[in-house]
Amino acid sequence: MTFEIDPVLTDALREEVVGLWTDVVNGGGAVGFVAPVVAGDVRPTAQAALAAVDGGTDRMIAGFEGGRLVALLFVAGNGHRLKEHWRTLKRVMVAPDRQRSGYGGAIMREATAVARTMGLDALQLTVRGGTGTEGFYARLGYREVGRVPGALRVAPGDDRDEIVMWLDLRDQQAPRAKQHGG
Ligand SMILES: CC(C)(COP(=O)(O)OP(=O)(O)OC[C@H]1O[C@@H](n2cnc3c(N)ncnc32)[C@H](O)[C@@H]1OP(=O)(O)O)[C@@H](O)C(=O)NCCC(=O)NCCS
Repeated sequence: MTFEIDPVLTDALREEVVGLWTDVVNGGGAVGFVAPVVAGDVRPTAQAALAAVDGGTDRMIAGFEGGRLVALLFVAGNGHRLKEHWRTLKRVMVAPDRQRSGYGGAIMREATAVARTMGLDALQLTVRGGTGTEGFYARLGYREVGRVPGALRVAPGDDRDEIVMWLDLRDQQAPRAKQHGG
């Protein structure tokens, strides 16, 4: 898999994003929908995500294998002037037929590299409770810093916690000079 950061968003690639996102949801992934979905269900949400990339508030990391889009995530701005020093990772996904091959770990490490290039202090993401995916992120150094009880209504009578996970990039860098007077 090779990565492209902020790839040129051709119409073909936009449609590939919709296709990947749809496949991932139907494969059981927790990326904003509950299976089953068709491309038409996902397209408006995907278009909004890509519009934020077009507009420069969010960045996109895409993983390609032989020209095919197989992995994706967004490095989203927080839209808050006091939260400019960190970003939120959204929609982390690997094509169902490529999961458990190390691609998820690889694109997450790429996100860390991009975050460092951007000079960020931290990355945050949220996980749907009950999926077990928090274990994947924990292996990458993220720690649970909170959970919003029952925040996600997956179905009537099936409310899940939203788990907040955080990677402090400063933990992994040389100590910085103390700042005074803040
Ligand atoms: C979660 C996801 C991105 C992980 O990507 P992946 O390519 O399958 O993960 P990797 O192969 O890099 O896995 C690395 C390790 O994390 C662990 N892991 C992977 N997926 C996991 C999951 N869903 N739950 C718990 N642990 C997981 C595995 O133990 C693996 O270690 P191993 O190879 O020694 O078994 C991928 O499964 C996916 O796209 N899922 C559907 C979308 C989704 O739910 N995204 C999460 C949104 S919060």
